[in-house]
Amino acid sequence: MTDQNKPIYTSSSNEQKLEILKRKNEEALKGGGDARIAAQHKKGKLSARERIDLLLDEGTFQEIDKFVMHRSKDFGLDKEHYLGDGVVTGYGEINGRLVYVFSQDFTVFGGSLSETHAEKICKIMDMAMKNGAPVIGLNDSGGARIQEGVNSLGGYADIFYRNTLASGVIPQISAIMGPCAGGAVYSPAITDFILMVENTSYMFVTGPNVVKTVTQENVTAEELGGASAHSTKSGVTHFACANEVEALNHIKRLLSYIPQNCEDQAPVYPYELKKDETRKILDTLVPENPNHPYDMRDVIRGIVDEESFLEVHENYADNIVVGFARIAGRSIGIVGNQPQSMAGVLDNHASIKAARFVRFCDSFNVPLLVLVDVPGFLPGTDQEWNGIIVNGAKLLYAFSEATVPRITVITRKAYGGAYDVMNSKHIGADMNYAWPTAEIAVMGAKGASEIIFKKEIAEAEDPEAKLQEKVDEYTAKFANPYRAAHRGFIDEVIFPSETRIKLIKAFKMLENKVDKLPRKKHGNIPL
Ligand code: HXC
Repeated sequence: MTDQNKPIYTSSSNEQKLEILKRKNEEALKGGGDARIAAQHKKGKLSARERIDLLLDEGTFQEIDKFVMHRSKDFGLDKEHYLGDGVVTGYGEINGRLVYVFSQDFTVFGGSLSETHAEKICKIMDMAMKNGAPVIGLNDSGGARIQEGVNSLGGYADIFYRNTLASGVIPQISAIMGPCAGGAVYSPAITDFILMVENTSYMFVTGPNVVKTVTQENVTAEELGGASAHSTKSGVTHFACANEVEALNHIKRLLSYIPQNCEDQAPVYPYELKKDETRKILDTLVPENPNHPYDMRDVIRGIVDEESFLEVHENYADNIVVGFARIAGRSIGIVGNQPQSMAGVLDNHASIKAARFVRFCDSFNVPLLVLVDVPGFLPGTDQEWNGIIVNGAKLLYAFSEATVPRITVITRKAYGGAYDVMNSKHIGADMNYAWPTAEIAVMGAKGASEIIFKKEIAEAEDPEAKLQEKVDEYTAKFANPYRAAHRGFIDEVIFPSETRIKLIKAFKMLENKVDKLPRKKHGNIPL
């Protein structure tokens, strides 16, 4: 703690002045003091500075506003000052690339956000915008500093406003490494990616006590807003990490796929094309029986550079897979229906998950690869009443407005509206491939036959046999990729084993793609 009223210089020599700076620096490094740092460690949490040290390349961190203190006088705060006021801010490098970072210090007033604490965060956000580099927030805070009242609320709003202006300009990443309640959740929610640490972090608008009072529900903080709840039920967090070190490493990996800002391109990793880039395993991956599942991740792994797939939202809406990967060293974003979960059907959650990912990729010039095996949209009251119309439209809208290179591969089913939505040629995809196993039709052969041949089947001597005959007829006509290829809706029907090489060439061909949306203020995506 620092005594704000004590004179800093009396009649000091230059040597003493250097000594004072040294001591102030040492004091700032201790945040709320040794005892509170020890308490933080006891909870299994690192200190704000330890986190920055692990995140940034060694020796690159340059701190800003180390000596800032709050200006509050109420509730005894005039007697309690800590250098830095509960947040460490500055810039540094991750794998040699500039990033701005703030790390909230729970040892100072529980990392709570005061007016000055907010000013520090805003300062580095403004610098990040001017200099075109990502902002990483390491959140560990009891929320608004209660003693400051509206000043701290204003501070939050100043941050939210900047989060919004920065959205789509520079990548913003939030790691939740402690409590995150009330207003503290809305800044992360506006950022591009959220990571949570299992068992030591939580996010909620109102905590368990308020929940109990208002809804009579008994729920723990972990159940209500822990990493598990938000990575599986709400989808608020994109990544749930076992511990803080894993979370920090995850941020570094995530950054390796994305550019510094919306004018920049993602880093390219050296890759030398091999003599043989075919992947024989893909030729036998789709089961003979069209109703049998397979793992779309196996297709992804068979296409992208080895070990390069980073899945996003892994445990949420797992009927669709999204994530980053590299193909011949270049970053791509992948969206794939997942036949092994609910047959890969599109529902509310899957549509929202994929739409948000597509929009991120398009904002930051990451080309898109879309892998299609989708039986359609999920029917039912639950889906309809929860807005499958607008949610499905989100995905349709997100693909339609994306101007990055977009390639589609239909591996099996592409039925009904879902065919249109999943990056079809008609909504602006650049290259559309289909495997010979593709079935592109309004619906599955059985469902279709039951509707259009209803009378004929009912009147048949052997309705079962008649149905099968009609199913075979419909299958022969539509359950293949050739009808669509005849129309040019599919650019090429390819051998699955050649998918990787086809994609390497096509993405290279699209490298300098220029596409523009009609002039507008901004679109009105169905939210
Ligand atoms: C000031 C705070 C604080 C806060 C914690 N502290 N939260 N000081 N403002 N919001 C202080 C405590 O007084 C304590 O100080 C130290 O931080 C550590 O807190 P503990 O309670 O001892 O720690 P722990 O048991 O780990 O509990 C952490 C906690 C709890 C769950 C975060 O402190 C808590 O519930 N705090 C209040 C959360 C809250 O309601 N915030 C306001 C949200 S509303 P000492 O001196 O003892 O070390 C909001 C509105 C914003 O944010 C809206 C914007 C749109």
